[in-house]
Amino acid sequence: MPDDTVELEARLEEAESFEPPESFVAQANVADEEIYEEFEENWPECWERAGDLLDWKEDYDTVLDDGNAPFYEWFTGGSLNASANCLDRHLDDRGDEPAIEWIGELGDTRTYTYSDLHREVNEFSAALREQGVEEDDVVTLYMPMVPELPIAMLACARIGAPHSVVFAGFSADALATRMNSADSEHLVTCDGYYRRGDPLQHKEKADEGLGGVDHDVESVIVVNRLGDEYDHPMENGELDYDELISEHEGAEVEPVTRDAEDMLFLMYTSGTTGQPKGVKHTTAGYLSYAAWTSHAVLDIKPEDTYWCSADIGWITGHSYIVYGPLALGTTSVMYEGTPDYPDKDRLWEIVEEYEVDQLYTAPTAIRAFMKWGSEYPERHDLSSLRLLGTVGEPINPRAWKWYYKHIGNEDCPIVDTWWQTETGGMMVTTLPGIGTMKPGSAGPPLPGIDAKVVDTKGEEVGAGRAGYLTVNKPWPGMLRTLYNNDERFISEYWAEYSDTESDDPADWVYFPEDGAKLDEDGYITVLGRVDDVLNVSGHRLGTMEIESAIVGVEGVAEAAVVGGHHDVKGEAVYAYVITEEGYDGGDDLHERIVAGVEDAIGPIARPEEIVFTPELPKTRSGKIMRRLLEDIANEEELGDTSTLRNPEVVEDIQKKVQE
Ligand code: WTA
Repeated sequence: MPDDTVELEARLEEAESFEPPESFVAQANVADEEIYEEFEENWPECWERAGDLLDWKEDYDTVLDDGNAPFYEWFTGGSLNASANCLDRHLDDRGDEPAIEWIGELGDTRTYTYSDLHREVNEFSAALREQGVEEDDVVTLYMPMVPELPIAMLACARIGAPHSVVFAGFSADALATRMNSADSEHLVTCDGYYRRGDPLQHKEKADEGLGGVDHDVESVIVVNRLGDEYDHPMENGELDYDELISEHEGAEVEPVTRDAEDMLFLMYTSGTTGQPKGVKHTTAGYLSYAAWTSHAVLDIKPEDTYWCSADIGWITGHSYIVYGPLALGTTSVMYEGTPDYPDKDRLWEIVEEYEVDQLYTAPTAIRAFMKWGSEYPERHDLSSLRLLGTVGEPINPRAWKWYYKHIGNEDCPIVDTWWQTETGGMMVTTLPGIGTMKPGSAGPPLPGIDAKVVDTKGEEVGAGRAGYLTVNKPWPGMLRTLYNNDERFISEYWAEYSDTESDDPADWVYFPEDGAKLDEDGYITVLGRVDDVLNVSGHRLGTMEIESAIVGVEGVAEAAVVGGHHDVKGEAVYAYVITEEGYDGGDDLHERIVAGVEDAIGPIARPEEIVFTPELPKTRSGKIMRRLLEDIANEEELGDTSTLRNPEVVEDIQKKVQE
């Protein structure tokens, strides 16, 4: 390495903070630091700034109705349509500009201008209507990263039918559970997709899922992605997407007027218990918040080419591939495949070719890029990049600095954005045109967001101490409830720190179930989940869901699942399993457990390590000591074992993990 490179490396290594580049600040959407005060002094009216980014059919009368906390309502009295906001209103100025640049894994591409997207969304809206989809019917979309997914989402929004997107990597069982929970009678799915160059069937999995649905299903529509590569079964009256589109060629469907608080979509996510939670998001609050954060944090301008590499099956893709960017009229890139196919420079090839301005990805991806080496990005001209972002899990300072240097050329601000499925959009991050960046720390709460770090009693902890993150005031993008389950909504998110008897909104505190640390500048470092939820490669998985899948396997008596540290994935699934009499923990059972987890949830939940043990460490009252199992998985010094009923098993398990 030449001397100046060594010096540069050393300087980066030591630096604890970075200022936004002047060239960025000069053009930033938000560059005046008074915005923090303005929002605070003018709360909640400050949120008109978000509302102003939308076109309203009927103006709202009240920004926030907090009369029935925690069932807050935003922009009440207003009405609008999300699809009209993402499409119709851009047609005059940007009709011929690309809305979606789709890139298939095999290198095939499709460009949808705003006019193209508008046309196909209209046609598909007409097709959905013809299939009997009515306003407020939940339509399930079980689809991979094909353009027809955002098209179907916007078509649902156009006719006022909430969508429930189920990640394509989820299993048939997971699809059935979600359709049952939402009483969804309509499904749009796909024959398959490509992974690492190979066609992967999806339709049979969808069929299997439909077999588990406990009510009549009115319509099933299938997108044909694989063409002749895979002759998918269509034996139960399913309809072909392309045929429907051509039957409805040129159809125009007037966007349905939705009240601000009408549901836009449901998104299922993992929680402490085995049952996934149906997070409900509404039309005006969610859309305005996705648009506002896309504007203020991602610095999106209509003329940009912006790329979020998440999957639309997760909330990140909903808010920051589809709704936020399209509401702002920009070009959103959508990539079907994996980052290492055909080679490990695939992302950088796309950035160069499309002259991407902003890249938003996950720390787990950055850690993989680091491992692969900087020669891959070096093959490409990445100078179009203006801003970088991360989401989904904490980013370690080394990965942050690698991203800053090797992808951003020390010339792009990085936004480390903390948020959740439930929050709808970003909550804690620096503003890229204003804030000093500190690698590893997400930053201060966004303007208007009242987040704190507290102890178990709800008292704020001082700088430097770890505690729990809370959000003390509502915000427009917040979930409104859990679908059909107001009680669980309160017990999961509010009961911990609120006076649940109170009518005063000031007594209601939202608990995201994350640990956090505050520094002297008010920056928040998010430490990770404090409930039984794992974060594997930025994907949220409930330990209880995985445990119940394992216990369902023949030969398993008991199981405990914890997260163990993993260099690339962040966390990996460690399963400790007790076998039933007559079974041994051999390869056969190992394979059946892996298959059981894949069937119940999907390959993302596959255990990294399965440890067969005659006993699990338990307290005298019979509770499994997960903390100890975590320490074992992480090969850390063990915590206190004195309260155990069976301390001798610990050493035994430890030996097995180290083998
Ligand atoms: C974690 C993804 C640290 C956190 C948008 C949260 C993060 C969970 C960050 C939500 C971040 C998300 N730093 N941790 N920047 N962003 N998390 O619902 O534990 O899939 O509670 O939403 O991811 O995951 P979800």
